[in-house]
Amino acid sequence: MTLPPIIQPASPRGQDPLPPPSAEAQAFSQALCERIVTAIEAAGGWIPFSEYMALALYAPGLGYYSGGAHKFGAAGDFVTGPEMTPLFGQTLARTVAPMLAASSPIITEAGAGTGKLAGDLLLALEKLDQLPERYDILELSGELAERQRQHLQTTVPHLMDRIHWLSALPDSLSGVVIGNEVLDAMPVELIRWQRAETPQVQRLGVRLEVVEDGARFISAPAPTAQAASAALIDRVRALADKYAWPDDYTTELPEAGPAWVATVAQRMTHGALLLIDYGFPRHEFYHHERTGGTLMCHYRHRAHPDPYYWPGLQDITAHVDFTAIAEAGFDAGLEVTGYCTQAGWLMDAGLLDLLAAQQPTDYNQADGQWVRTQHAVQTLLSPAEMGEFFKVILLTKGLPADLRIPGFLRSDRSHTL
Ligand SMILES: C[S@@+](CC[C@H](N)C(=O)[O-])C[C@H]1O[C@@H](n2cnc3c(N)ncnc32)[C@H](O)[C@@H]1O
Repeated sequence: MTLPPIIQPASPRGQDPLPPPSAEAQAFSQALCERIVTAIEAAGGWIPFSEYMALALYAPGLGYYSGGAHKFGAAGDFVTGPEMTPLFGQTLARTVAPMLAASSPIITEAGAGTGKLAGDLLLALEKLDQLPERYDILELSGELAERQRQHLQTTVPHLMDRIHWLSALPDSLSGVVIGNEVLDAMPVELIRWQRAETPQVQRLGVRLEVVEDGARFISAPAPTAQAASAALIDRVRALADKYAWPDDYTTELPEAGPAWVATVAQRMTHGALLLIDYGFPRHEFYHHERTGGTLMCHYRHRAHPDPYYWPGLQDITAHVDFTAIAEAGFDAGLEVTGYCTQAGWLMDAGLLDLLAAQQPTDYNQADGQWVRTQHAVQTLLSPAEMGEFFKVILLTKGLPADLRIPGFLRSDRSHTL
């Protein structure tokens, strides 16, 4: 069968034009589009949005994370906390150290990006005399694993024998499992609610629309055969009633994130799971004014809502429903030991003390590193930037009840789940 070529718009739908990708990147995206078209045709013309998102981000060798897109840093599409300053990893070391001492000396990091957090965390734990015996990196992308290996080989060559790469969660986990901005990169289901006389719940997904010179991906409700099940309708109706959704409301159901947390919880013998990400507790996630959901894409440091713009060349994310994460962990045997804003956690764990202990002269003045560090701390803490918007959740199993965990000693308790 000849597949129609996917036509790429100059701009995400409803947005100003963005810088066009290189010819090589465009070819990459076209190859991924063919893979997605094949999946749509094989499924009879429609796939759920979660399947589209999984392919766009993780199709082997072609997806945004599994392929060659640059992703992180100034030359990429977004910057994460650990990429901004080593103080992020150094502060995290203060939180992690007592938990390692009280459980097992093993860290498992999910989705380690460039390896920056791993390097900073290991160096800081070495200073605290709390080096883990193993640092396992769970990485789905071969390209990122290689980037991490090169970064760590340069920054912590003497610790390389402790670092191991895993392609799947181990059957048994102990020590501390960490994930920064991992949950937001997990596929979500999209649904639309309409409060007609008979309330309607549509599963949203993706189909091809034929246009003049080819085809393009568009969002579409599921065909009858794949329509919402009775259980899904009941679940959505309960949310709609509880949070007083207006007549037309589109949102996400974050299935993969909570399922991943449940698996970690089931496999954890003793230790902790610490997750940092942007999101809200459920009552804010499903707030009646959030009528379009939280789905967001990142391309060259511009955020926009069009998931069909150059598939494979942009990140697609959704905010995290932290109540769902807490419930998934709790139901599978973990305790919810802490939940606060990123600013609350960083301040409580001593980020500002670490900053105060540094001198401008510690930095290379010529390249503006000191100013960049000050700016990074401001971005991490400011309520208008990452400070409030990002949350930190700590789920534990079998840790002593009186264990003092910096980051969660006096943190802001106003953020309830
Ligand atoms: C936005 S990046 C964050 C990278 C890094 N943690 C940082 O803060 O810079 C999201 C990462 O999560 C990873 N990821 C998503 N689902 C995952 C899963 N089920 N297991 C492990 N990693 C996953 C992706 O492959 C990607 O590397």
